[in-house]
Amino acid sequence: MRIFTRVLGAATALIMLSGTAIAQSPFDSPIKARQALMQLYSFNIGQLAGMAKGEVPYDAKVASAAANNLKLAASIDQSAMWPPGSDNSAMADKTSALPDLWSAFPKVVEAQKMLVTATDGIVAMAGKDLASLQGAIGAVGRSCGSCHKSFRAEKK
Ligand code: HEC
Repeated sequence: MRIFTRVLGAATALIMLSGTAIAQSPFDSPIKARQALMQLYSFNIGQLAGMAKGEVPYDAKVASAAANNLKLAASIDQSAMWPPGSDNSAMADKTSALPDLWSAFPKVVEAQKMLVTATDGIVAMAGKDLASLQGAIGAVGRSCGSCHKSFRAEKK
């Protein structure tokens, strides 16, 4: 009886282990991390876009904070968040990152540099006045869009 319980215990443990192995992949957490970073970009550019479009009143402090957050977020070292193999070819349910992101790597670095440069512009302009914010936000949006166009799968 005791042996039976032990064997049963071991079998249960094995089943639980294999269950986790199926549900979890080593790519889950880097994928979540990079998507969280993108959400952070999205939140902050959303704050700025709301003011630029006149949907919410311009507030220099809020605009400066959002611009600074964007610059900081864009400066994070993301290298560990994009492990090779974590593209959407095998995991379309988890990630929209296209395989090209890894094969055309220098182009991705360029796209990222474009974003960092654009965030320098918005940091300099966002807190001045509405017109300055409106003048600088386009470059940020274009840098997001150019990377998405090449490296992110369209939402289905
Ligand atoms: C260098 C390339 C690159 C740049 C620059 C970039 N993105 Fe992304 N973005 C991606 C990729 C690739 C994905 C798909 C990530 C995934 O699903 O694993 C993505 C996904 C997203 C998502 C969906 C996140 C989720 O929860 O699934 C949002 C929102 C987003 N980006 C917003 C932005 C905004 C806003 C900017 C600009 C401020 C930006 N991105 C700049 C490449 C980029």
